[in-house]
Amino acid sequence: MSTIKLTISILLVSILSLALYAPAPGIESSKFLEDFRKEYLNNFRVFQQVVSILEETAAKTTTKEQVPNLQNQLTKTRLAYKRIEFIFDYYESSYNYMKVNGGPLPKVDKENALVDIVAPNGLQTLDELIYSDQPFQEIEGIRKLSSDLVTDIDFIAQSHPTFNLGEKQLIEAIRTGLIRVFTLGVTGFDTPGSGNGLLEAETSFQAMHQAFLFFDGHHEPEAKKAFCTTDKLFKKAAKVFQKNKDFDTFDRMSFLKEIINPLYKSMLHFRVDNGVNADRFRYHAHNYDSENVFAEDFLDRSHYSEFTYFPLEHPASIALGRALFFDPILSKNKDMACSSCHDPKKAFADGLPKSATNQSGHYTKRNSPTLINAAYSSRFFWDLREFNLERQVAHVVSDSMEFNISFKEITDRLNRDPNYRQQFADAYKGISKQDINSQSISNAIAAYVSSLSSFNSPFDRYVRNEEKTYSQDAIKGFNLFMGKAACGTCHFAPVFNGMVPPFYLEAESEVLGVTDGFDTLRPMLDADKGRLGNGLNFENYPHFAHSFKTVTVRNSALTAPYMHNGSFKTLEEVMEFYDLGGGVGMGLALDNQTLSADPLLLTEAEKGFIVEFLETLSEPGIFQ
Ligand code: HEC
Ligand code: HEC
Repeated sequence: MSTIKLTISILLVSILSLALYAPAPGIESSKFLEDFRKEYLNNFRVFQQVVSILEETAAKTTTKEQVPNLQNQLTKTRLAYKRIEFIFDYYESSYNYMKVNGGPLPKVDKENALVDIVAPNGLQTLDELIYSDQPFQEIEGIRKLSSDLVTDIDFIAQSHPTFNLGEKQLIEAIRTGLIRVFTLGVTGFDTPGSGNGLLEAETSFQAMHQAFLFFDGHHEPEAKKAFCTTDKLFKKAAKVFQKNKDFDTFDRMSFLKEIINPLYKSMLHFRVDNGVNADRFRYHAHNYDSENVFAEDFLDRSHYSEFTYFPLEHPASIALGRALFFDPILSKNKDMACSSCHDPKKAFADGLPKSATNQSGHYTKRNSPTLINAAYSSRFFWDLREFNLERQVAHVVSDSMEFNISFKEITDRLNRDPNYRQQFADAYKGISKQDINSQSISNAIAAYVSSLSSFNSPFDRYVRNEEKTYSQDAIKGFNLFMGKAACGTCHFAPVFNGMVPPFYLEAESEVLGVTDGFDTLRPMLDADKGRLGNGLNFENYPHFAHSFKTVTVRNSALTAPYMHNGSFKTLEEVMEFYDLGGGVGMGLALDNQTLSADPLLLTEAEKGFIVEFLETLSEPGIFQ
């Protein structure tokens, strides 16, 4: 090759790599950030290597006796992953969820043009299999999953290293990492088989602390105090992890109040004091200006209504929606309103196992759920059949057992009422030819439902340090909920529903084996197929049989009876059900239960503590 050609190719390569590493507009990269990137990419390569070794180890595991070796290699792999996760997941969230470390559940791949179901895979499923009762029996599956993982990591390794790194990104990746450790790490969600959650959390914290220290000497003088506070809190966390190694007794409440909350806040101050703004960089649902995971503004409600026809936040729409919600004018015989089945006095449920329809003696197929905090979800109904809060209204309108009417008829009726004409004009004037139409009606009602948020329960006030008194038993209940009893691995903080942290984009459903009635000795599986029969072709997948939305447990003390079929009369019955390991734990034959069938072995007192904790999540009477 001539010198000229060589120079040209070197030039080309440098221009290309410059283009690859050029920061996006508005992102200023500096030397210390590039130093961090280098260290991170080293760690990424280490991870890539240990994943390959895991594949080799699995291939070489040909006897039961070699299983401990495989387990050891998985631990190494997962710990290597924990060193990069806070960055990797921040940039590659959906890929990570789909391929690398999502929950061990089938997932809907929406990125794929032909919407597809991805079977359980990745590091979490490997943890479950390699630490199952009979890992050697699973060896074929383990080999396949580890070899898929090698392919998936090699694939992403081609594009991932070019991520745009600015101060904002590094700070927010660490803050999101704190939420991840609190919701998925110390709860055991991430380690369903090995139970290594605390060790992994410790490693995640070390990695985030080291990353944060790259700011040392590279921040505004005003940010010095927040820098020192953050550093101190990370050191304090390291001590907490060193001292407390036992999963069942780890004190999640102290961890939340003394580490997670202050760290999340001090890193916000660090960002603000450095003059870094919070504009959304990634497509995430949490508000990066929020101080606390249990603050009212932690999740961005408007995020979930992004796909609605009009925004949901206008006071005039909300007021109008409220009027419509309680008005039977919407139903054919003017005998039913939304509030008939969603009564504010009953936390927007109705107290019945299944709701009364417009025909006496006939009931709806399922139990009426609370609408408080219902808006914090990307999917609606027990079977997840609806994606949009506005379109949800149409289900009620057209249902022959509910409103049994057309939007045209509703529109005509509302047009005859001068008050409504005025209210619609105030909220929607000029947006369409007619102010009153199916979209404005649906939007107003959805805006009201979306406004029903509750994050000021005694629990919230206590964890935000707004209230000092809180029952010791409820603290024990919270610790069990987030630890030994595994509730928090499905009912994720802060809404305690199925929106998957730390980005809160996906709504999960689970198979618990909920019974028809409550009889622990002669259990009968409820016949409802749930998500399998939700009418969405791409979810017509056997794993979804009897799978139901993980609903919020906030205000659950006010919404008996429980579950999609209203089968459990009290929270004590709910606790009994979980303690026995759900339907399969009670002896039902159901091959796809996602709730562990192992009994929880909670004492009577412990079950009582959990119920007491649940009771502190209520805010009775806030919307009357
Ligand atoms: C006849 C009783 C009844 C009426 C009337 C009714 N609902 Fe419901 N609602 C239910 C039941 C039952 C469900 C659960 C159905 C399912 O999941 O299959 C439900 C589910 C919902 C959900 C989904 C909640 C979630 O977390 O997934 C929303 C939102 C909702 N209703 C809002 C409304 C609104 C708004 C109206 C009035 C336009 C209304 N409902 C009228 C009984 C009723
Ligand atoms: C494997 C995931 C999973 C785990 C673990 C789990 N839940 Fe649930 N929970 C769900 C799902 C899914 C539903 C709805 C099921 C249905 O109706 O069929 C539910 C429903 C509930 C309800 C009823 C809510 C209502 O309004 O009807 C309560 C209360 C509840 N869970 C509390 C708990 C507690 C307490 C624990 C821990 C002991 C726990 N859950 C563990 C997934 C889970």
